[in-house]
Amino acid sequence: MKDFKRPKISVIGAGNVGATAAHLIALKDLADVALIDIAEGVPTGKALDILQSNSVEASSVRSVGGTDYGLVENSQIVIITAGIPRKPGMSRDDLLKTNADIVQSVTQQVAKKAPDSILIVVSNPLDAMCQVALKASGFPKERVMGMAGVLDTARYRAFLAEEIGVSPEDIQALLLGGHGDTMVPLPRYTSLQGIPISQFVNEKRLNEIVERAKAGGAEIVGYLKTGSAFYAPAAAAVEMAEAILKDQKKLRPVSAYLEGEFGYKGVYLGVPVILGAKGVEKIVEVDLDEKEKALLKNSYEAVKSLTEVLGL
Ligand code: NAI
Ligand code: 2OP
Repeated sequence: MKDFKRPKISVIGAGNVGATAAHLIALKDLADVALIDIAEGVPTGKALDILQSNSVEASSVRSVGGTDYGLVENSQIVIITAGIPRKPGMSRDDLLKTNADIVQSVTQQVAKKAPDSILIVVSNPLDAMCQVALKASGFPKERVMGMAGVLDTARYRAFLAEEIGVSPEDIQALLLGGHGDTMVPLPRYTSLQGIPISQFVNEKRLNEIVERAKAGGAEIVGYLKTGSAFYAPAAAAVEMAEAILKDQKKLRPVSAYLEGEFGYKGVYLGVPVILGAKGVEKIVEVDLDEKEKALLKNSYEAVKSLTEVLGL
């Protein structure tokens, strides 16, 4: 890869989310890809498979894989998906300690090899894992963020689009809080091309859709039985990477480190941010009513209870 002057994205964890993300990056011809995993052979084989698919897909992306973090060198962005996924009956929080150790160790290795990179954490429990990565990397807060809100709003938008009979692309939605049962979708900030969503869906149905979106991850775990969702999670992480790589200044719900925004400090929570070349370039504060504030407080407390267990 040394001879190519192309952007590079590394993906740590060559499992369902990681390999799907690497494939999407190749399909979009976005950047060269390095795929890393502890499972000897798996990242090498998957990266080779992706490389070969590029001949058919007319993509010039070069993909390599392995267990050696030397492959991560010169990456602009690193997507961290290493960890264990949810099994039926497990909450995201059950993954806490195992994944904290994994995320700490991979982040330390990434930080050594790609000290100027921007980290997009995917591993669960998401908001707590972002805090682990922030500490382990020593990077500034704008270069360590988590993917959750793009996925959660994608689910919400997909369900709304089906209900109304429109393109999901035309639904704009915002969401706050941690990635978990306490996430806070904001129907007040949901529209169909700027037209308030309440004009298309009645309150009762909207609440049902909100609840289905909140449980969207568990619904898929229930079907898959041996793992969790990966197509939409990978698409969401790659959308964030693209916004950063192309300096698109997209406003998206992202898990970001708060220092007073929305009234919270020293914690990662999902909030609207501008994503650009510097990473989280701005956190956009929006007005919340009393009910929304109470829901956000509940979500903050859920995330805080996890980071406290980890001593963060
Ligand atoms: P998976 O089990 O398919 O892949 C995980 C990969 O991580 C495996 O290949 C495993 O060998 C690798 N791994 C484990 N320890 C490692 C280490 N120390 N270094 C490098 N690689 C290591 O799981 P999947 O479905 O890809 O999910 C990955 C993570 O992402 C899980 O924690 C899951 O809960 C989370 N997730 C988060 C979402 C979000 O919205 N933030 C959405 C979907 C998944
Ligand atoms: C999801 O929301 C498990 O966090 C993962 O699908």
